[in-house]
Amino acid sequence: MQVLTIRRPDDWHLHLRDGATLAAVLPFTARRFARAVVMPNLSPPVTTTTMALAYRQRILAALPSGVEFTPLMTLYLTDDTPVEEIDRAAASGAVLGCKLYPAGATTHSAAGVTDIRRLDAVLERMSERGLTLQVHGEVTDPAVDIFDRESCFIDRVLAPLVERFTSLRVVFEHVTTRAAVEYVCAARPGVGATITPQHLLLNRNALFQGGIRPHLYCLPVLKREADREALRGAVAGGNPRFFLGTDSAPHARSQKETACGCAGIFSAHAGIELYAEVFEELGALAKLEDFASGFGADFYGLPRNRGTLTLERQAWTPPPGYPLSPGELVPFRAGESVSWAVQA
Ligand code: DOR
Ligand code: ZN
Repeated sequence: MQVLTIRRPDDWHLHLRDGATLAAVLPFTARRFARAVVMPNLSPPVTTTTMALAYRQRILAALPSGVEFTPLMTLYLTDDTPVEEIDRAAASGAVLGCKLYPAGATTHSAAGVTDIRRLDAVLERMSERGLTLQVHGEVTDPAVDIFDRESCFIDRVLAPLVERFTSLRVVFEHVTTRAAVEYVCAARPGVGATITPQHLLLNRNALFQGGIRPHLYCLPVLKREADREALRGAVAGGNPRFFLGTDSAPHARSQKETACGCAGIFSAHAGIELYAEVFEELGALAKLEDFASGFGADFYGLPRNRGTLTLERQAWTPPPGYPLSPGELVPFRAGESVSWAVQA
């Protein structure tokens, strides 16, 4: 059997939620990844350092015993984030950066930012204090086609912002388009991007394969094949600006299989295995380790992990659902095959 041992990976973009859902999903991530950047879009959102530190404690308390895992916290930016909050976040040592959700762009983003120009002082302080800006890169203008919202965001918001704050570190989260890949490749130093497994594995046809597929709906939505090819080219080429971020985002089945379903794909149960599939398809398995366990840590100026994780070329089938209280969670590839497994 083919076996692949890599340095223990990190997930640079993850939704863990809170309470019973946190307890249900955290073990999947902690079994695979040593660290994860935890998104702050709870309800209410994690807007202060005090809230982030309390959330961090709840995550640590929910860990299975004996599992080593470090949550890296983020703050949720609003129109009213005070500059002093950036000082508190930096002083805490537990907050890695701040997440920009354009108001209305996605799940729990209603309290997000309506106009980035309102945050000039906050962004200036972030670059002084070494906090990273994590960006959900889609415009919310209803006149812009949903498939163009990422590329439009680059032109209208991201590129000008990156040039205004020349030493701010920026992660363009979950990039989905050729335009985003080209932008990140050509941007000034200090600009990186995460890529999800679903955007590497699927194009938008998958959303309508034989009928509508609510469990494949996420934001940014899946794009066309040429976009997927650009993402695959970026990871196969070993460009250090691109690193692993699953964007695993749990929602109960009842919230997905409904007239107006939530955006989000749960992939933490196969959070490294799915990437191994992609890199194998690309003939680039030797590049998986840098993408999963090297480039993200380097970008954030954190040490690479010391432990290892071993994967086996061994097919397995995720179950139709994992329990949530209440309800259940339908994982990515439920009832279908995943070709790599984590060694017990
Ligand atoms: O599909 C998504 N789900 N995209 C996001 O940006 C948020 C996430 C969630 O929190 O469910
Ligand atoms: Zn996300």
